[in-house]
Amino acid sequence: MTQPAARSCDLSVIIPTYNESENIQLLLGKLSDVLNGIDYEIIVVDDDSPDLTWKVVEQVGQEDKRVQVIRRLDRKGLSSAVTTGMLESRGNCLAVMDADLQHDETILPTMFKRISEEGFDICVGSREAEGGGYGDWSANRKLVSSGARWLANVMMGELVLDPMSGYFAVSRQYFQGTIDQVNPQGFKILLEFLARGESPRVCEVGYEFRNRIHGETKLNASVALEYLLALVDLRFGWLVPNQFVKFGLVGITGSLVNFFGFAVAQSLGMSIPLAVVLGVELAILWTYFANNFFTFTPMTFRGRNFFMGLLLYQVVCCYGLVVQLSVVQMLLTNFPVMRESLLTLYLVYMVGVAFAAVGNYFLHSYYTWNRLGFSLSRPSKSAPVAVV
Ligand code: GDD
Ligand code: MN
Repeated sequence: MTQPAARSCDLSVIIPTYNESENIQLLLGKLSDVLNGIDYEIIVVDDDSPDLTWKVVEQVGQEDKRVQVIRRLDRKGLSSAVTTGMLESRGNCLAVMDADLQHDETILPTMFKRISEEGFDICVGSREAEGGGYGDWSANRKLVSSGARWLANVMMGELVLDPMSGYFAVSRQYFQGTIDQVNPQGFKILLEFLARGESPRVCEVGYEFRNRIHGETKLNASVALEYLLALVDLRFGWLVPNQFVKFGLVGITGSLVNFFGFAVAQSLGMSIPLAVVLGVELAILWTYFANNFFTFTPMTFRGRNFFMGLLLYQVVCCYGLVVQLSVVQMLLTNFPVMRESLLTLYLVYMVGVAFAAVGNYFLHSYYTWNRLGFSLSRPSKSAPVAVV
């Protein structure tokens, strides 16, 4: 469990940044005005922005000891930047806000008060609550946002009016009780805090979302996909690991590749066994690629290891093939009636696929992409010598 650092303060403001050098200094200036009278610290978590946002903050921090920056050398994303900052913080209240001036800093003292004086666990800076709004968003963005909100409500029940907000504050006590379960992936960090705790006391403070003037948004299609997966994880994660859902999705695309490979090969006049092998092989190549860069990140094989990983993957897939064939064979032998219609035959086939998929998944996650501690690269001959 996380302990607050030795000397605590009243409020920690966590600000994730990626290429916000033109915004961050303005924001830090505004915060020092509105937070006047509060014992606060500001922690900017920057993923080594190419525009040197971290350097700008470092310079401010030399003048103002309440401001510090954590510079991470790998880009791990918005939510994980937030949890990293939170873990380093020492405030009794932890607030999170964007660096791009879209979140109205003038409501921050009110949010802080709701937590520190009124005993709320979470206070959301809300575009949906009274006094809130989206500024002049395009119809398109409004639609996407309300779609995402609707989906969150369907899956999780209505937790707050604006579950997609990136602007919120939590008490240290609530943070400590939930952080171990939070999944720091994607953009929906507030949803994690709301859903992982046991009936938190929640309130909302309305504010008008501002337009971005400098820099650009980092919200893209892959963030949207991560969001969908995160909802599945929040709802069903206790039953099915998210990685298995990803593995299953890749598997579905793999069977399409398999089928098309087979169909094309056959239409080109290839014999059936050869066309089957070609389809299977194409599917193996495609799913290796997709699993490597999607399902099993960050354990992705790169460089020379990419091909070693492919070799392991091929071997494990052969095992899957044997499982699938055996299950199908066993079912058809024991229940010959299943051969009689195409529907039952497909059913048998799908049962075979399911057994193979589960087996393959365990082998790939515990062996191919984890290798049980066994390293793919041989130790170099001149191993470094420890100097005592
Ligand atoms: N460290 C780090 N790493 N920070 C990041 C990363 C990253 O990979 N990606 C984005 N950020 C920072 C940005 O620099 C900014 O300060 C903040 O996170 C929000 O990113 P934006 O790219 O401006 O997001 P947005 O404005 O499109 O999305 C906002 O609204 C969404 C709902 O409408 C955010 O507040 C989201 O949290 C919110 O879900
Ligand atoms: Mn933004």
